[in-house]
Amino acid sequence: MTKPTPPVSAGDVVTLDLEVLVPGGEALAHFGGYAIFVPGGVPGDRVDAEVISTKPGYARALVKNVLTPGSQRVGARCPLFGHCGGCQWQEVDYAAQILWKRQIVVDALTRIGGFPGSELVLPTLGMEDPWYYRNKVHWALAKDEKTQGSGIRIGLYEARSHRVVDVEHCYIQHPLNNLVLDFLRKELPEFDFPLYDESTGKGWLRSAFAKAGHQTNELMIGLVTTLSDFPQESRWVERVREQFPGVTSIVQNIQSKPGNALMGEETRVLWGKDHLFEKIGPLTFAISARSFFQVNSEQVERLYETALRYADLSGGERIVDLYSGTGTIALYLAAKGAGETLGIEVIPEATRDAIANARLNRISNATFLTGKVEDRLPRLLAETGPIDVALLDPPRKGCEPSVISAIASSGIPRIVYVSCNPATLARDLKILVEAGGYQLQEVQPVDMFPQTAHVEAVALLTKAH
Ligand SMILES: C[S@@+](CC[C@H](N)C(=O)[O-])C[C@H]1O[C@@H](n2cnc3c(N)ncnc32)[C@H](O)[C@@H]1O
Repeated sequence: MTKPTPPVSAGDVVTLDLEVLVPGGEALAHFGGYAIFVPGGVPGDRVDAEVISTKPGYARALVKNVLTPGSQRVGARCPLFGHCGGCQWQEVDYAAQILWKRQIVVDALTRIGGFPGSELVLPTLGMEDPWYYRNKVHWALAKDEKTQGSGIRIGLYEARSHRVVDVEHCYIQHPLNNLVLDFLRKELPEFDFPLYDESTGKGWLRSAFAKAGHQTNELMIGLVTTLSDFPQESRWVERVREQFPGVTSIVQNIQSKPGNALMGEETRVLWGKDHLFEKIGPLTFAISARSFFQVNSEQVERLYETALRYADLSGGERIVDLYSGTGTIALYLAAKGAGETLGIEVIPEATRDAIANARLNRISNATFLTGKVEDRLPRLLAETGPIDVALLDPPRKGCEPSVISAIASSGIPRIVYVSCNPATLARDLKILVEAGGYQLQEVQPVDMFPQTAHVEAVALLTKAH
């Protein structure tokens, strides 16, 4: 089918009625039947928007003027909204945000998976207070061209860019992470560490990060540097401890490779422990600098309770937790009645955390292996006895085709798939249904990322007999 020729050109200003929110967070409108995506738009708004690019099938336009605000539009809390790439939906009323998140899951399941999405997808589990929830931050750093000498911009990246937006206060970050921002703003100019420059590859300090325990108030503060030496190390540690007397861990991560990877493989402890503790329900978890941990500690319990409900434990089940991170889901299920759980995770520190977390919580029926799921799973399926539940929680790109085909032919009766990307979720579920004879029973979206367009969902598949 030939794609329609754009009826608009870059620079045109057109009046649009914004209809829906789509994956990625943009609003969609039509102009003479032609699709126009509007980042930052709110469904229900009538706007004047300036076309910024056109493609054979669609264009993209930016709101110049809201002519008539829709009922879902609210004022953004953050003055940087629209500049900072962190939040996409602060101007969408929260009650509407969670409806759209469900709709995005329904659309992906219908369009990509061919499922009757709306019948299977439950209402999104949202937050009562959808602010200050993020337990982890990477504060990006850049030289401020506007100020002389040691002026630094500290904050987050603009959307789809590596330009640093100077952030005074972040409304979705945990208060401790905001205090770390204040501290960096005050101290970094004084320390005058040479900032890393992406274009030349020169410099020492790449970024700063903080992890805060929502339930424990523990705090890790780290600097990511290009080299492992640390000029003024003891002075830095002293200053951090003066400012944060209760700090748990002060670390340095070394990332010497060029490119976008935020952290490197080596982490040095400068003071305190190499991890902080966080609690989910009755369990305590150690999290080290590089380990993945869900960023919303409050909602994670809802997420794991959904996984638990879908696992439908009656006692004694054997469970594999694929992409297990610090072992949180495997341990949650092990503590709630599973007979035996086995986690597979590629990052060695995360596996180490998982093993330590099992010990910490006196859980003896959980084992963890380091490796890629695609390498470990075939042997595991061939050599171990029957598995009752497979839990999958892959990164955004979803599972490797070989993983999905191994699961599809495994005969495991229940599959619980936790996903942060509805498109790859729908793609993988479709294969499991078509090639594996599974039935999609239910999908539960859980809002782990309020004010943003990120969507998390848990799906239950069972084997048809
Ligand atoms: C979305 S996180 C889930 C972690 C954990 N289930 C949780 O809830 O905290 C995905 C995890 O998969 C790991 N990972 C990514 N690719 C992998 C692969 N090919 N094999 C094993 N683990 C992988 C990442 O390091 C990360 O810990």
